[in-house]
Amino acid sequence: PKEKGWRTPFIYLFQGFWCQPKEIQAIISFQKHFQARDSDVILATIPKSGTTWIKALTFAIMNRKRFTTSSKNHPLLTSNPHDLVPFFEYKLYANNQIPDLSNLPKPRLFGTHVPFASLQESIKSSSCRIIYVCRNPFDTFISSWHYINKVRPESLPPFPLEEAFNLYCKGVVGFGPFWEHMLGYWKESTERPEKVLFMKYEDMKEDTVSHLKMLANFLGVPFSIEEEEEGMIKDIAKLCSFENLKDLEVNKCGKSIKNFENKHLFRKGAVGDWVNYLSPSMVEQLSKVIEEKLGDSGLKFNVFS
Ligand code: A3P
Repeated sequence: PKEKGWRTPFIYLFQGFWCQPKEIQAIISFQKHFQARDSDVILATIPKSGTTWIKALTFAIMNRKRFTTSSKNHPLLTSNPHDLVPFFEYKLYANNQIPDLSNLPKPRLFGTHVPFASLQESIKSSSCRIIYVCRNPFDTFISSWHYINKVRPESLPPFPLEEAFNLYCKGVVGFGPFWEHMLGYWKESTERPEKVLFMKYEDMKEDTVSHLKMLANFLGVPFSIEEEEEGMIKDIAKLCSFENLKDLEVNKCGKSIKNFENKHLFRKGAVGDWVNYLSPSMVEQLSKVIEEKLGDSGLKFNVFS
């Protein structure tokens, strides 16, 4: 099956989720060739849910002994988080490449938008860890709509909000339906909490420090009392904050995902911006979809700042 794409003429249903032909090719190659190691860490999201942020935070935590937050050479000051934690589908296995990942230093950090069910089998069967970040669908939708309009080819007209909204509610969005994406990882995190850490963008915004501690504990590298006393957790939160990353030269120029400019990855970084865009009837429609699809799964969202 195919449907109208947000940024391309068509988007295709592949293994139960929507994506573009180039992505399908890369995902097939990833499924065929990637071999997970127990020490690997996989950062999974649906687009526009805080991927850039979780990549920066995890990189900073895992590399804090090599690069202190005050270091002038901290890689986050000179590289976009997507270059430090590459996507399987946009980078490593894109364009028919089969990368040799065997010499990457441990622990290897990777990013992906692929739903849980379609992850390479060894990711599921090994002891490698998965961190999933989820964002409330109202903000995720608005963020996606802005992004698509920013990165669309000049030859395409702007994508109307109503049209994007109707597709989103039907589940037709890259790597969607969003509810299936979230529920796949949610279910796994409830059954195997040592395997999948499930976090929400809104909660991370509200209390970044306790989420950093949670992340470090999950990753098996908890902050020591000395590190806490030195203020390291707050320093990492600051280094990776929207305000800090947005103003770095490397994030104002350069292209780290496809041929999209990095600056579009940093828009507003807020919770609740959807109130400026959605009409009452849209809010009702999407609320209904969320209620119906998430049902009694236990997954709930904070949608206001
Ligand atoms: P908005 O469009 O609502 O501003 P992704 O990284 O998954 O592509 O998601 C992009 C969203 O995360 C954008 O949301 C972007 O502004 C926001 N974002 C980017 N970096 C961030 C950071 N360091 N902290 C919080 N939010 C961030």
